[in-house]
Amino acid sequence: MTKKIGLLMVLVLVLSSLLVGCGTGKEAAADNNSKVASGAEVESYTLEGIKEKGKIILGTSADYPPFETHAIIDGKDQIVGFDIEIAKYIAEELGVELEIVDMEFDKLLGGLETGMLDMVIAGMNPTPEREKEANFTDIYFETTHTVLIHKDSASEITTVEDLKGKHIGVQMGTTQEEVAKTIENAEILSLSTNPDIVMNLKTKKIHCAIMEKAVAQSFAKANDDLMVVEGVTLDSGAEGVAIAVKKGNDELTEKLNEIIADLKAQGLLEKWYVEANELYN
Ligand code: ARG
Repeated sequence: MTKKIGLLMVLVLVLSSLLVGCGTGKEAAADNNSKVASGAEVESYTLEGIKEKGKIILGTSADYPPFETHAIIDGKDQIVGFDIEIAKYIAEELGVELEIVDMEFDKLLGGLETGMLDMVIAGMNPTPEREKEANFTDIYFETTHTVLIHKDSASEITTVEDLKGKHIGVQMGTTQEEVAKTIENAEILSLSTNPDIVMNLKTKKIHCAIMEKAVAQSFAKANDDLMVVEGVTLDSGAEGVAIAVKKGNDELTEKLNEIIADLKAQGLLEKWYVEANELYN
């Protein structure tokens, strides 16, 4: 008899624990539903997702002074520049940390597409082609393209006409590459970074490079043997640079537009642009 009671008690215990188990299961399921309903399972690259993860991931190609470049500051290799100041301000406004991912320029939009990056600030022109792939904010800076040469070619290359049939260095996947393609008989060397182009120019493997004016000026300032061809500007049909986010990420785009408008109103963009130009020489 006592044995039977004992067995019964064990059974009761086992059953009740099973029931408790079931209960938690149900609760967990309910919890999951409420998560979905309250929007907790948001994509990490949306405005809400960024706030939830506590950081915004910036993709850039840090080979483009004064927009973004590596610099040794306090003995440490850091990514600095005009675009980086903008990114820091955005992170601050959103109340999150800034994480910078440095990659090749032509891989940036893919990084948005896969959700690896939250935004791209890389002196990027919003071309109609790119607008099919990503959302772009309003223009935060107007730019033009110009030509960088070795000083030894100063008399040889003075006009756009002189570029015909020349070996031209450009960064891969850029609007400069598109501009170069329009030049008659040009031999185009597409490289993954701007310092590569500069190296090829210094060693005279190419005749010239097409770059954004501010960038060409930065490289000319830092390299005594290089110079910008005065008065030559090339139209890519997409002047001005903007921030890119994943296609359809509209709430974040709007928020970034508000921040850009605010930066323009405060005159901070001009200030950072001047500071970035002073940084690189
Ligand atoms: N403005 C050009 C473009 O949008 C080149 C930008 C290159 N940017 C860079 N960080 N390397 O195609």
